[in-house]
Amino acid sequence: MQDFTELAVLGAGTMGAGIAQLAATRGLSVRVFDVAEPQLARARVAIVSQLERLAAKGKVEGDDAAVVMSRLLFVTRIADACAGVGAVIEAAPESMDLKVELFREVIGAVGSQTLLASNTSSLSITELGRRVGEPARTVGLHFFNPPPVMPLLEVVRGVDTAPQTVDAALALARQLGKEPIVVRDFPGFASSRLGVILGAEAIRMLEQGVASVEDIDRAMKLGYRHPMGPLELTDLVGLDVRLAILEHLHRELGEQFRPPALLRQMVRAGRLGKKSGLGFYRWTATGPVSAG
Ligand code: CAA
Repeated sequence: MQDFTELAVLGAGTMGAGIAQLAATRGLSVRVFDVAEPQLARARVAIVSQLERLAAKGKVEGDDAAVVMSRLLFVTRIADACAGVGAVIEAAPESMDLKVELFREVIGAVGSQTLLASNTSSLSITELGRRVGEPARTVGLHFFNPPPVMPLLEVVRGVDTAPQTVDAALALARQLGKEPIVVRDFPGFASSRLGVILGAEAIRMLEQGVASVEDIDRAMKLGYRHPMGPLELTDLVGLDVRLAILEHLHRELGEQFRPPALLRQMVRAGRLGKKSGLGFYRWTATGPVSAG
């Protein structure tokens, strides 16, 4: 089975940082690319603080936080991130054009065997692979937030993804300690369709005055044993991310995915959830509190 030692992560947002933390904790050398230096700095701070939290609880597996950090390199040039790596995981915003542009640059910097993986939540792996000109080695590797914690990894097989690419993706998933499922390339895959519909419906209920933010969340936590309610989860994932997924699924799958007006309005106002400090909740150092 293929063994990966070096990995490039493209995009240092919430998911990119989490994937990088996970991979470095599992012993891989990781190069994190982002065009924006401040974003890289924020990712580094987020990873350090997570590792410190875990170290304080005695939970950094085997290594201490400093060793994990020493496996991470933060770079602003794609070529520096990609040279010599066995796999590239793209975790950029949900724009097909942006992802195509990034991978076209990656192609010039990697070997012919490098695995090309996208963490997209819903976009077509088939289209991405074709537009990049590398359909056989393009695959979806869909992580869940927070990547170091959530066990699932969706491996998305495009129409022209080669069987050996799927095998390599499964090997990487297991190396990262994840439980993979292989999913056909279809809008929203096996998880996002169900995930976003719950969040969107909760927002519509809020618009209709059915219950408060806290009580809608309490309903699903206490009544269905969800670890967090759909509105808190939307804050965790990012309102902009959820809106982009809904817009795509609305185009592809129809009316039931129409984004709620309130979601659109909150994104316009910059209320993106945990990452901006304000969403359905106000996010403090100790967690979410009522936004009032
Ligand atoms: N890195 C490493 N470990 C972390 C971590 C991180 N970033 N964040 C939390 N943890 C660990 C904690 O150390 C803790 O470990 P122990 O139980 O061993 O002590 C454990 O995770 C639980 O963390 P907390 O005690 O801080 O908090 P919690 O019990 O409230 O759990 C949660 C937090 C794991 C996020 C939980 O609320 C949960 O599972 N929520 C649902 C998350 C979810 O549904 N994610 C999927 C979103 S959809 C998506 O991401 C896909 C997409 O396409 C948008």
